Amino acid sequence: MMKTNIVLVGFMGTGKTAVGKRLAAVLNKEFYDTDQEVEAVTNMTIPQLFAKYGEVRFRSEEQLAIKRLSQKENCVIATGGSMVLDKENIEMLAEKGIIICLSAHPQVIYERVKRRNNRPLLKKGDLYETIVELMKQREELYKCADVHIDTSNLDFHEVIEKILAFLE
Ligand code: S3P
Repeated sequence: MMKTNIVLVGFMGTGKTAVGKRLAAVLNKEFYDTDQEVEAVTNMTIPQLFAKYGEVRFRSEEQLAIKRLSQKENCVIATGGSMVLDKENIEMLAEKGIIICLSAHPQVIYERVKRRNNRPLLKKGDLYETIVELMKQREELYKCADVHIDTSNLDFHEVIEKILAFLE
């Protein structure tokens, strides 16, 4: 079966949402973001949801959104950095989707997220140390992707170019 979806996975601050939006416009596909879906369904921001109901609830809402979005065709789906923690999420998205992983060096992530840190998991302790630690924990899981793009030294347009070259 032809895979018509493009799924962006990867750590927080690798540009999944920004790249995904633009990529969808270029490819004339619909754009979805699992975090935005969760916010719309719960009528809460991600930080509010974490604060009120905790991480476990967030993850189950995220999985429901993934279940729904993975049935669609011809769209670009940006996902939250932690969704790879549950293999089922990847399996669902891979049915109709090509999985693209965006990565970046911890120092680059740090610079990108520190300006406006609205990620609940990055709120505790030293920001740089937390990034390194979470990245280590998830490194293996991101290997599920069909292709990997290190965005550390790339601007937004260059990332899109790389993705388009891979899809050709
Ligand atoms: C998370 C990443 C966030 C969001 C939530 C948890 C994570 O998405 O889903 O704060 O644990 O990596 P982004 O990757 O879009 O920042």
